[in-house]
Amino acid sequence: MRSKLVVGNWKMNGSRAANATLLSGIVEGIDGAKAACAVCVPAPYLFQCEQLLQGSPVAWGAQDVSCQAPGAFTGEVCAAMLADFGCRYVIVGHSERRAYHGESNELVARKAQAALAAGLTPIVCVGETLAEREEGATAAIVGAQLDAVLELIGKEAVAQIVVAYEPVWAIGTGKTATPEMAQEVHAGLRAQLRTCNAEAADGVKILYGGSMKPDNARELMAQPDIDGGLIGGAALKAADFLAIIRAA
Ligand code: PGA
Repeated sequence: MRSKLVVGNWKMNGSRAANATLLSGIVEGIDGAKAACAVCVPAPYLFQCEQLLQGSPVAWGAQDVSCQAPGAFTGEVCAAMLADFGCRYVIVGHSERRAYHGESNELVARKAQAALAAGLTPIVCVGETLAEREEGATAAIVGAQLDAVLELIGKEAVAQIVVAYEPVWAIGTGKTATPEMAQEVHAGLRAQLRTCNAEAADGVKILYGGSMKPDNARELMAQPDIDGGLIGGAALKAADFLAIIRAA
C-alpha cells in the first residue's frame, strides 16, 4: 500500500515570527504520526525552515521554481538553489501560477524536469475550472496537464513525481469535491500514469487539494487512489494541519 503524504501550501503567507510559532507547533505535535508531511513555504523562508525543521519528521519545499539553470534570469529561483536550502519538494503548476502568471502545460513540464534534475520531488498540480467541469471536460483538461509533464520527463522519472489533483473551483472556496468525485479523477490519473509506466504507477502518490480540512480529510483520504492532501488555508494553523496529518 502507498503511504500517505500531507503537504502544506502556505501560498504568500507568513512572517518570521508567525512561521516560528507555526513550525514549532507542528514539530511538537507531530510525534507518532504515521503519514509523511511537508510544508511548502515562500522562498525567503526556506532558510528558516532548514534551521527549524532539520532533523524533524517535517520536510520542506518551495511553491515554484524556474525552468532555467543559473544565469541571467532576474527574479527567478532555480532548482539548485532550492536543493541548497534542503528542500525535498517543489510545487509546480499550481492553478494560481497557471491563472495569474500564464504558466502553460509546457512550462510546467519544464519546471518539473528542472526540479528532478536537481534531485527534488516535483508536486505536479492539475485541475479543472468550474466551467470546464460543467462542460464535461475534466478528464481531458487534467489529462493534458499531466501528459505534458510525462512526455517531457519520460517513463523512467514517473516514480519520482507526486501528482496533486486540485479542482480550481474547490481551492480556497470551502467547496470540496466529494470523495467519489475526487476518486474518479484520481483513478483516471493513475490509469494515465500506468500507460506511461506500468511498474511505477501504483507507487506514485496522488494528493487531493481544495478546501481539505480536518473534518473532511478522513473520508477523502480513505479513497483508494487518494494518497494524501495538498493543504492551503488549513495548513496555516498547527492544530488543523496536525489534525489532517493524523486523519491521513
Ligand atoms: P485550500 O488550497 O486548501 O486553501 O483550498 C489548496 C491549494 O491551493 O493548494
